[in-house]
Amino acid sequence: MASPGVQMPLTEPELKLLQTLVYQECGMHFDSRRTHFLQDRLQRRLKECHLDSFYSYYRLLISHEGKEELTKLLENLTVNETSFFRNKAQLDLFHKHILDQMLRSKQERHDFSLRLWSAGCSTGQEAYTMAMLVADAVSYHCLRNPSGKEPPVPKPLIPPPWKVEILASDISYSVLRAGQEGTYSEHQMSSVDYSYRLRHFDKVGDRYAVKKSLKEMVHFDFHNLKTEYLPQRYDVIFCRNVMMYFDEAEQRRLIEKFCRCLNPSGYLFVGHAESLLGLTDKFNMVYRDTGTAYQKLEVAL
Ligand SMILES: C[S@@+](CC[C@H](N)C(=O)[O-])C[C@H]1O[C@@H](n2cnc3c(N)ncnc32)[C@H](O)[C@@H]1O
Repeated sequence: MASPGVQMPLTEPELKLLQTLVYQECGMHFDSRRTHFLQDRLQRRLKECHLDSFYSYYRLLISHEGKEELTKLLENLTVNETSFFRNKAQLDLFHKHILDQMLRSKQERHDFSLRLWSAGCSTGQEAYTMAMLVADAVSYHCLRNPSGKEPPVPKPLIPPPWKVEILASDISYSVLRAGQEGTYSEHQMSSVDYSYRLRHFDKVGDRYAVKKSLKEMVHFDFHNLKTEYLPQRYDVIFCRNVMMYFDEAEQRRLIEKFCRCLNPSGYLFVGHAESLLGLTDKFNMVYRDTGTAYQKLEVAL
């Protein structure tokens, strides 16, 4: 049993084994710049499990009884940094151009459903940002294209016949719980302007709680992006600041999978420091100012 305060030595072969296991389980790649972080988190887990070597820890992780510990380790290895309205230029492209054009073309086809996915959603700020922007875009679209029918009272956030579903997924159960709870501190709300706060949040003590109407648009669920079977038929996927933790081979595989998850001409948004350049020929980059997105190319049959 490990004594408290003592750092267990981690040998090169043990590190390799654990690195490979993490990569196989979730696609996260710890190169030389990030091995220090990996080692630190492994030391913490070893201590928690009261084991005396990293090899024993590895054996635990690959055993049937070690499933729960593996989940805990992966949770400890994820970086969950996020914020509301992150990357303004990209969100302007999404809101003012892509959504506007998407709603018009869907209306022409009498298709009134929009399916969006925040893949690697962390504590939910990205998915709720998408929900606020989509709610605005759909209301504005309906104002310009009235159906002639009386709107229901009270007025819903998404006017009928439109239906919006947003999936928010992550590999970490703790961030999914926080997103589902949907309460945020003043600090976390710093990028949410007054009008959005007023419409979509209730002040509860010193925190802000997402209103029921917005919450109902977002469904939180566990999905590991490493697995083959991912949810399908999305119009838009946001997978921002996730791929940067994967190596090139895993990034290529993920982009291939996202291509299959998207409807024809659907859009993929990646983080500011990420790009699809040189990784696929199945998407076309679109941009406005410094905001970029990738549109799935139509394949001629
Ligand atoms: C830096 S956060 C990005 C949050 C948000 N997308 C944003 O840009 O603000 C990365 C998130 O990806 C999640 N993640 C990492 N690997 C994953 C995987 N294999 N499957 C699903 N989620 C993953 C992490 O748990 C973390 O919450």
